[in-house]
Amino acid sequence: MNATRFARLLALCALIGLAPLAVSTPSRASGGEEKPQDVQWSFDGPTGTYDRAALQRGYKIYREVCVSCHSMNLIYYRNLEALGYNEAQIKNIAGEYTYMDGPDDEGEMFERPGMPSDRFKAPFANAKQAAAANNGAIPPDLSLIAKARAGGPDYIFSLLTGYEEHAPHGHVLQNGQHWNRYMSGNVISMAPPLADGQVTYEDGTPQTLEQYARDISHFLMWAADPYMEQRKQTGLKVIIFLIVFAGIMYALKKKTWKDAH
Ligand code: HEC
Repeated sequence: MNATRFARLLALCALIGLAPLAVSTPSRASGGEEKPQDVQWSFDGPTGTYDRAALQRGYKIYREVCVSCHSMNLIYYRNLEALGYNEAQIKNIAGEYTYMDGPDDEGEMFERPGMPSDRFKAPFANAKQAAAANNGAIPPDLSLIAKARAGGPDYIFSLLTGYEEHAPHGHVLQNGQHWNRYMSGNVISMAPPLADGQVTYEDGTPQTLEQYARDISHFLMWAADPYMEQRKQTGLKVIIFLIVFAGIMYALKKKTWKDAH
């Protein structure tokens, strides 16, 4: 193969390699938003794991702040075991909520305390009620939000810390709208939900907006991908197995062909 043909082939390979990038770049109509910050997480990389203390703090933020608007319909109280809570603690947490159940033997609906087998209690009965309480905007379910948005936990962290008090000159916000550097189109119908000192941490972790944003993003990543740790472990084992297996096969090949010339 001569040099020009080789160069052409190389260019073609590069093009094929780059094609998926061009396709997967999200094309957003509005533009103005910034790319999420690149945050360091304990669950980054092929051996990264969730930080149980961060998950518990994140859950505390969810149930003291976000839960007044956002449901997490795919998560059950019993799933909290993964955060390091024991059975009794989970029973207590679930028991703080009231659920409508029934009908009983008389055909009546009745209220009962929550149980570990219940889904996280949702703040609104339906989407219409949620919209009515939020100037017409529906707070999305947060169970899978860390997977549903490009950037995942980086995006959630950036969003929660990316509010501006005023819209830039020339932009007008409607009632209930806020300016956010990372929201698609910059305009969001969620008031800044977190501020310094809002949630009490018992473990001495700084009670700052930035720390809150880190912890709730950590928690939401776990909610969207609760089996990440097991998956990484399996992947690692498979790779180690393949390396060892390749070594054995190579040794076998050398032995088999030792006398052939
Ligand atoms: C007072 C109600 C309220 C509270 C409290 C609240 N949110 Fe929201 N949130 C909303 C509404 C309404 C939207 C939809 C905004 C829109 O589409 O413009 C939203 C949207 C979001 C989004 C999606 C943004 C996007 O990319 O579309 C995320 C993520 C989010 N909230 C996270 C949180 C977290 C985390 C908390 C708790 C720290 C929280 N919210 C607390 C009302 C609330």
